[in-house]
Amino acid sequence: MSAETSHRLIKAFLRQPVDRTPVWLMRQAGRYLPEYRQLREKMGGFLAMAKNPEIAAEITLQPLKRFPLDGAIIFSDILMIPDAMGLGLYFAENEGPKFKHMIQHEKDVSTLVIPEPEEKLNYVLDAIKITQKSLENKIPLIGFAGSPWTVATYVISDAKKMLFQAPELLHRLLDKLAESTVKYLNAQISAGADAIMLFDTWGGLLTTRDYHDFSLKYAKKIFSGLQREHKGKKIPCIFFTKQGGQWLEDMLSIQPDVLGLDWTVNIGEAREKINQRAALQGNLDPMLLYSNPKRIQAEVEFILNAYGKYSGHAFNLGHGIPKDVPVENVAALVDAVHSLSAKYHG
Ligand code: CP3
Repeated sequence: MSAETSHRLIKAFLRQPVDRTPVWLMRQAGRYLPEYRQLREKMGGFLAMAKNPEIAAEITLQPLKRFPLDGAIIFSDILMIPDAMGLGLYFAENEGPKFKHMIQHEKDVSTLVIPEPEEKLNYVLDAIKITQKSLENKIPLIGFAGSPWTVATYVISDAKKMLFQAPELLHRLLDKLAESTVKYLNAQISAGADAIMLFDTWGGLLTTRDYHDFSLKYAKKIFSGLQREHKGKKIPCIFFTKQGGQWLEDMLSIQPDVLGLDWTVNIGEAREKINQRAALQGNLDPMLLYSNPKRIQAEVEFILNAYGKYSGHAFNLGHGIPKDVPVENVAALVDAVHSLSAKYHG
């Protein structure tokens, strides 16, 4: 079936042998980089950058110019879908993302239109195409979206309250978000994304039963609608629920190629439990980047050793890079993964 891939990261996602453990970092393009902050100052903010395809491509490449990373992730956000639905995303200084129109009533959901990615999210698709031209197939590019539950937590003032007060309304919203996300991710794959990641940052807020009914169910709808092959190549799909370590077995039901782990899980125990049914991505505590190169190397060694001499590990953090960690520590992390991992392969 699939054409052979030469990318270390894609091989690890597909549990094929590699020479070293590949590494990329969630939020690898962002505020810890002075060149990002400088461009942000000039452009006037995150949204102006993310909606400009040339700039988004430039920012995607910034961390790759500094560190020998094995993957790039397109510079965008999980909240672009609700923005494209007309909810009006904005960022208030130091307050995080907000929406002009929040979801509260029946009609807020019934009037929501599923966005056509080629019309309403074309800036992301263009950014993918521009980035891929620069990457010249040397490094794979990851596309992404948020899980419906996680996106819902940003467009409802209190999503857990709605879960108990108006569960049917919440289900209708999640369903529309899932449908939009399938179209959006498939458009990213058609535009050239080499892998796809679904971020379920807030799944860990739910009870086990609600996790199944309100998060996993819609992630499954998305994963089963994805076009998981493009131009003869398999497109690995990653699923990540923060604080979802107790549900790894459940997550296999959506058929991910890769499961993301936060830092609360022992990756060796997770590997044994998963038993080659998916690759694993993670799982260094991002706060460790505030320590020093020696401490970082020791933790990298601990994680590599816990995973052991098996294929199917993509090194990453357990969540995004904090916004003000020293750049030297990020460099030390990437180098440590490459230099310390050779002995676990081949
Ligand atoms: O990983 C990458 O480098 C790719 C880009 C990326 C961003 N957001 C850029 C961004 C990705 C993959 C995301 C995902 C995202 N966005 C998630 C899921 C992963 C996670 O972090 O839990 C969530 C929950 C969001 C929503 C979001 N967007 C929040 C909460 C914030 C504010 C947080 C903050 O750090 O201020 C954003 C804005 C945002 N998205 C920034 C970046 C680089 C900061 C923008 C800035 O102020 O310059």
